[in-house]
Amino acid sequence: MSQPLLQVEGVEAGYGSLRALADITLHVDAGEIVTLVGANGAGKTTTLRVVSGLVHPTRGIVRFAGEDISRLPPHEIVERGISHVPEGRKLFPHMTVAENLALGAYSRHARARMREALEEQLATFPRVKERLAQLAGTLSGGEQQMVAIARGLMASPRLLLLDEPSLGLAPKIVEEMFAKIAEIGAKGTTVLIVEQNVVEGLSISSRGYVIENGEVDRTLGSSAAELLSNERLRSAYFGL
Ligand SMILES: Nc1ncnc2c1ncn2[C@@H]1O[C@H](COP(=O)(O)OP(=O)(O)O)[C@@H](O)[C@H]1O
Ligand SMILES: [Mg+2]
Repeated sequence: MSQPLLQVEGVEAGYGSLRALADITLHVDAGEIVTLVGANGAGKTTTLRVVSGLVHPTRGIVRFAGEDISRLPPHEIVERGISHVPEGRKLFPHMTVAENLALGAYSRHARARMREALEEQLATFPRVKERLAQLAGTLSGGEQQMVAIARGLMASPRLLLLDEPSLGLAPKIVEEMFAKIAEIGAKGTTVLIVEQNVVEGLSISSRGYVIENGEVDRTLGSSAAELLSNERLRSAYFGL
C-alpha cells in the first residue's frame, strides 16, 4: 500500500496558551494539489506552519514520506523537501529578484542543483526572468507573488506549501496565478494551498479540506468536486 506524501494526524497546536488547532487530520498524496478552505482565524496558516516546523504540535503527529517530522526544526524540514511560501510573500524588498531567488536555494540539497532550478523557474515564470536585476520591492503585487513562488521552488521541493497566493491580486492576475499553480502541479510538484478564492483553489485541486475553529470538518468528504457542489459550503464560503 502506498503511503501519503504528507500525513497530519490529530494535530493540536497553538501560540502560548492560545490553542489555534484542536484536531487537524489530513493527508496529501504525491502528485496532488490539495486546498485548505476556511474562515479567517480558522487555523489554516497555523496548519501550514506545523507542517514546515515553525510551530510544533502539542498533540498529534506530522509524517512526511513516512517519517515523523513533528519535532524537527524548520531547516531540517526544508532539507527533506518541504518549501513554505508564506502569507504576504515576505520578499526582501531591497534585494534584487535574482538575490531573492538565490535565497530560496540555501538548503544543502537545493544548492547542489541551484543553476538547474533557476533555469526551470525562469522557464515557468518568463516575467520573472525579465526582472531579475530589479529590486523586488518595485514589482507589482502579482509579480512579487510569482517571485515568492519561484523562490519556494528554488529549493526543488517535493511538497510546496502556498499560503493565500492570490491575496490582494486583481482578478485577471488571480486567474494567471492559478494557471501557474496548476502548471507547477502538472510538472510534478505536490502542492498544498490555503486559499480564500475557494472556487478557483478547488478547481485546480483533486481534494480539499474545510477547517473550522482549528478542526477539519469530518462530516464532509475531501473530493474537490464534492466540496464544490456542496450547498452549505456554496453559501458559507463561495458566495454563490
Ligand atoms: N503569531 C501568533 N500569535 C498568537 N496567535 C496567533 C498567531 N498567529 C495566529 N494566531 C491565532 O491563531 C488562530 C488561527 O490563526 P491562523 O492559523 O492564522 O488562521 P487562518 O490562517 O485560518 O486565518 C487565530 O485565533 C489567530 O488569532
Ligand atoms: Mg492565514
